[in-house]
Formats: sequence, structure tokens, C-alpha cells
Amino acid sequence: MSEDQWVKIKEILSGKKTDETVKVRGWIYRTRSSGNIAFIIIRDVTGTIQTTVKKGNISDEQFEDAKTALIESSIKVSGTVKKDDRAPGGYELKVNDFNVVDFAEVFPITKDQSPEFLLDQRHLWIRSQKLTSIFKIRSTIVGAIHKFFRENGYYEFDAPVLQPNQCEGGSTLFEVKYYDNKTYLSQSWQLYAEAAVFSLEKIYNMGPTFRAEKSKTSRHLSEFWMAEMEAAWMNLKDITEVAKDEIRFILKEVVEKNNEDLKILGQSVDDLKKLSEKEFPTITYSEALDILKEKENLDVEWGKDLRTIEEEKLMNHFDAPVVVTNYPIEIMAFYKPRDPDDKKTALCFDMIAPKGYGEIIGGSQRSIDIADMTKRLKDMGEKIDNYEWYFDLRRYGSVPHSGYGLGVERVVAWICGLDNIKDAIPFPRTVTRFSP
Ligand code: 4AD
Ligand code: MG
Repeated sequence: MSEDQWVKIKEILSGKKTDETVKVRGWIYRTRSSGNIAFIIIRDVTGTIQTTVKKGNISDEQFEDAKTALIESSIKVSGTVKKDDRAPGGYELKVNDFNVVDFAEVFPITKDQSPEFLLDQRHLWIRSQKLTSIFKIRSTIVGAIHKFFRENGYYEFDAPVLQPNQCEGGSTLFEVKYYDNKTYLSQSWQLYAEAAVFSLEKIYNMGPTFRAEKSKTSRHLSEFWMAEMEAAWMNLKDITEVAKDEIRFILKEVVEKNNEDLKILGQSVDDLKKLSEKEFPTITYSEALDILKEKENLDVEWGKDLRTIEEEKLMNHFDAPVVVTNYPIEIMAFYKPRDPDDKKTALCFDMIAPKGYGEIIGGSQRSIDIADMTKRLKDMGEKIDNYEWYFDLRRYGSVPHSGYGLGVERVVAWICGLDNIKDAIPFPRTVTRFSP
């Protein structure tokens, strides 16, 4: 049977098929029967629809199958579409042919199960309406990121996943046995991207990123996807503007494509649309501390990183993402340069999302001072030899350049309004979980 003979449930719910006989295939979402009638809700990727299966309208054998097939059984049916205001979605399918493709065993997932149980059953829970909506939105976000950069003249450029160096501090590196040596899983694409901007000038990438994050938080994964950009000739101010444009573009795409999914997740399409048209403010780290002191009566010692709680309190005063620049240089990665106009700080930024979702983007201008980077790496106990290739990039026609990384799952969690970042990625890896 050719593809186009199958009608998608959404098409039926749109009213275009009323009183027609259609063929639908999918999975049993809910089922109940009494006597000579069975009510079966079928789901496909586009939605769910109620069907009624009556004894007499189909063969006795098919009716037996319809009564006994458990949820998640895969089925193919044919039936007449009837408008019925009592049915969820407003339409019902009166079945005249019912075929089970595969009778499901008793589905292990029932109502009100614990998050841990659902994570154990992730391979099955992935079918839930919630996760289906999240991964549709995630797909839009990933597509939007590619589209954004490609439409703005960036080349996609790939870095190795196995890397001998740290980028964001040695303590979160995942070590890998590499023949008779050891190496690490990528913490960032950045260092290799810096090699490529001297030819390709504007580049981006989205790829798996690994951090041995020992803390269990609702924002940290051990494996996540980072969307990074790097550009020659750009400074800190330039990239903060790119980052703001990127986020607004993502929001616009999601609003345009995922109305239904946002509603299922309880997110306001209107609010996200407004956000996509807003200016996002930029403040400095020092200004953030002032806000915390004046408006939240919260004293943060100058020089300390902003913790989750402080980011949350700060965001009480903003309804759009905020760019925070000029963090204290001491707490910054080795490649972030000193700001010549404010020597205690680095030319760097984080973008912080509203509503407690925290840092969604981190980036900086890149240091071109080999001596300073050498000192900072030595202080961290790094082998300088490993970074000579990186210093070479400053030796042969260096130019000012900058870049940032966006945490894909952080953005998905924020836009979908998720309680935990684990639901923003299909199969999450955390300190305590690396299966299924
Ligand atoms: O701020 P980070 O560590 O920046 C970098 O890695 C730079 N080298 C990027 C660059 O300039 N090219 O990470 C970037 C973003 C964070 O803002 C956060 O959104 C996300 O990656 N992130 C994580 N997301 C989930 N789980 C984790 N453990 C994360 N660590 C960082
Ligand atoms: Mg960061």
C-alpha cells in the first residue's frame, strides 16, 4: 500500500476528512470496551483520535482483537470520520476494518510513576506525549541554529571529539584510553575552531560535549550538545549581539512551528512570541552585584562566581534573557583575555535565561597573549607543550576573534518550561545514570 493512502490524525482533526472513509495507522493510546463496543484512542506522530469499534461492523475475529489488544499495540484501521463534539478533538472514527500489526505485552509504564522509574524505562517513555512534544521542539531548535548560522554566512566546521587538551578546566574531563595513551572527550569545540577562523572566518558547529560534572543539579548533564560559533574580527560586543539574534531567531522558529507542542507542555505561545521581539539587556558582572545588593539585599563578594541562587535572584528583575559581561578574570578560563579598560575583569559574557533556567550561553573574546595564557595554564598544572599548537595560532597572522557556546538542552529546557534538563535530551547521562 502506498504511503499516501494513510491519513495522518491531524488531518482528520482539521475537519478536512469529515464523512470520508480513511485509513489510519498508529498505536493504541487508551482502550476500553464493554459488551459489543470498544473505544480505542489511536495515536500517531501528529496527534490522537478516538475510534469506536462495534461488533457487527467488522468480523468477529477482528472485534476480538480490538477488545483484547493492549495499549501500545500497533494497529492499522479503516473507518469513517464523524464530527462528534463529545469526542476529544471533536472527531471520531467509526471503524470498519481493524488489523493488529503487533500485540503489545503489558506496558510497564502506568500513571504516576517516579522520575527514576521513567528514566529506567526511557526507551519506552520516549513515546509519551510530553517527550514527543519536547523532541519536536528540540528538532526545531536544532534546525533553527543551523539555519541561523548558515543564513548569516557561517561555515559548519567540525572538531575532533577526542582531544588531548582541556578547554574549560581539567576537573571535568572524561578520560579515554587511547591505544597505549590516554586522551579526553571534548569539553568544547572552541580551541580547534580558533584554528579555522583564520581561513573560514565565520564558523559554527553543534556537537556532543562531555563534562564530568560531579554535582547533581537540574541543569547539568555529563553529555550534552553545544552549539558554538567562532568568528575572526569580532569582539565581545559583536558576539553578544549575535547571541541575542540567535536566541530571538530560535524563539521565532519555535513559535512558528510548535504551537501545539508548546500548548501540550503548558507554555504560553504569546509570551515566547513577545520575547522573540524583545531587546535583551546587557549588564556587567559588577552591575549584577549591585542589583543583587540593592534589590535583593544579597551580598556577593566581588570576585566570586554567580551561583544558581544568585542568577535566579538577579533574574527576578528581568523578563528577558540578560547578557552579563566582564566577570572577574581570576575565575575565568585561561583563554579569556583581560579587559584593557577594566583590568580585574575578562572580555567575556554569559547569557542568563529568565525563570531560573540559568546560564544558556557562555563566550568571550580570545586571548592573544601567549605569556599570560602560559602562566594561567601552568598555574592549573597543565603541560604547556600540549598547547603549543594553540599558541601558534597567535604567531602567524593572528587577529582579534571571539566566540561562544550555547547549551542546547538548557535552551530546550527553558523554552519547554521543563523542571529538569534530563527531559531535554533523549537519553540523559548524569553522574548516576548512563543507561539505557
Ligand atoms: O560556558 P561554557 O563552559 O563555555 C565553553 O565551553 C566555551 N568554550 C564555549 C565557547 O566559547 N565556544 O559552556 C557553554 C554552554 C553553557 O552556557 C551552558 O549553556 C552549556 O554550555 N553547558 C552545559 N549544559 C548542560 N550540562 C552541562 N554540564 C553544561 N556545561 C555547560
Ligand atoms: Mg560558562
